[in-house]
Amino acid sequence: MGQNLRGRSFLKLIDYTPEEIRYLLDLAKDFKSMKRAGTVHKYLEGQNIAIIFEKTSTRTRCSFEVAAHDLGMGVTYLDPTGSQMGHKESVADTARVLGRMFDGIEFRGFKQEHVEQLAKYAGVPVWNGLTDQWHPTQMLADMLTMEEHFGYLKGLKFVYMGDARNNMANSLMIVCAKLGVNFVACAPKELFPEEDLVKKAKEIAKEHFSTVELIEDVKEATTDADVIYTDVWVSMGEPAEEWERRIKLLREYQVTTEVMQNAKKEAIFLHCLPAFHDKGTKVGREIYEKYGMEAIEVTDEVFESKQSLVFDQAENRMHTIKAVMYATLK
Ligand code: CP
Ligand code: NVA
Repeated sequence: MGQNLRGRSFLKLIDYTPEEIRYLLDLAKDFKSMKRAGTVHKYLEGQNIAIIFEKTSTRTRCSFEVAAHDLGMGVTYLDPTGSQMGHKESVADTARVLGRMFDGIEFRGFKQEHVEQLAKYAGVPVWNGLTDQWHPTQMLADMLTMEEHFGYLKGLKFVYMGDARNNMANSLMIVCAKLGVNFVACAPKELFPEEDLVKKAKEIAKEHFSTVELIEDVKEATTDADVIYTDVWVSMGEPAEEWERRIKLLREYQVTTEVMQNAKKEAIFLHCLPAFHDKGTKVGREIYEKYGMEAIEVTDEVFESKQSLVFDQAENRMHTIKAVMYATLK
């Protein structure tokens, strides 16, 4: 059924009902088909958006830019140092300025409170392109990828391995609970998600006949999983010194072929990317030299395997972000 999301901001998925999330997923599927068929869909011609990045990005930035162009909109990119925001101008003042010029604003940064403030003062829809706490646009791409592969979401067993206190784990726990996917955080106790959030997620899950579990043992957690998901062990904005502690804590939580074999035969591997799966990056090489690990959160064998759908996921960022912009601006 159609949902009216016009004028709404997209800040975190706790704010959205399962029906609204469903609507955005369906819209994304339509846009994906149109893109594949080469059907022009410049439905938002004449509108303009600003995209603000306090942290670096490949997928999110490119998705917003390509999606905006496909919809016929103009885009202004503000890089981590390219605006007055935070240095010489408050978030509230920046929001009121940008709100006079743009029809929508994307923000990627550190504090969730900043994206919430932007939304409060801008008077136009604001989309969260990742904060320390949440990564809501990524959720739509992940759920779309799973649904495309399995044909359904409800009842799937989803296992998130690694740093279960970060923006990805928080967001996945909530979106799974809302969409009836059984969520397992597989991590050492020290990196289990915040208690309050787990409580909230469990309440949501109960309403949608799904479960939320926190399990330390890798074998127990991953048995019969449909989806194995991981993310970087140290997120953007965290100090580089964290690596040592995280490696100690998470070494046994690397996604390996053995982990995938313990999951269902048809299980898939997902990762929001970027991923440290080999020595092809500066960080990857440093970790190898210091700790002798050829890969960090996922082995190259799993990353490159047929079970890995990470590039479908990356493509789906664009289609889903397009759906969010269209639904909130049309
Ligand atoms: N997954 C994701 O958000 O990627 P980027 O950091 O490249 O935007
Ligand atoms: N947890 C990661 C996600 C990157 C898309 C980070 O915040 O760096």
